[in-house]
Amino acid sequence: MKIFIDTANIDHIKEVNSWGILSGVTTNPTLCAREGREFRSAVKKICEMVKGPVSAEAVSMDRQGIVEEARELSKIAENIVVKVPMMVEGLAATKVLSQEGIKVNMTLVFSANQALLAAQVGAAYVSSFIGRLDDAGNDGMSILADIVAAYDNYDIETEIIAASIRHPMHVTQAALLGADIATVPYDVLKAMVKHPLTDRGIERFLEDWNKLKKATR
Ligand code: E4P
Repeated sequence: MKIFIDTANIDHIKEVNSWGILSGVTTNPTLCAREGREFRSAVKKICEMVKGPVSAEAVSMDRQGIVEEARELSKIAENIVVKVPMMVEGLAATKVLSQEGIKVNMTLVFSANQALLAAQVGAAYVSSFIGRLDDAGNDGMSILADIVAAYDNYDIETEIIAASIRHPMHVTQAALLGADIATVPYDVLKAMVKHPLTDRGIERFLEDWNKLKKATR
């Protein structure tokens, strides 16, 4: 499973990219607003930093507006993927864009049926929002499982992104279900690196190594 970072924070992207684990970036209007930077230049910078796909969201609500916005966004860099919300206008726009070779990440997907529709119009990616379903008292992971199973039945090529990740267990579960990608917030990525036994193990090895050095000096 590929790991994307779900943020528009340039410093966080830079840091995690330096770990060597990053395959792409997803942003959304809320994440961009949080950073308070000019949208286009921030996205351009992210595209220069990370070689993999970088999702930037179109905010028009009608098909023509989405198509025009997506064409503009795709000029920013070769690795731009346009995020389009799941709705009738979004589906119609995605059909046009996929035929033009512009990659779409169909976002705000909360059911297997929505994911099936995204695949019909040629979306390159579908973002299954797990945490928001959990927040609403539903089981986000079971929807992701349905999407993976339905896509497997028909060898659908649209890549499934486990999105709206809240904690490290979401990442493990998404991988066990066979999601293609997990897009993970910075704090959750940092938590994934850590294990108390690893920290204790490193401390112990260093203590013992220093003891050995003292004893053999
Ligand atoms: C996905 O691409 C979205 O940006 C993101 O995962 C939304 O997550 P949230 O529910 O934490 O806002």
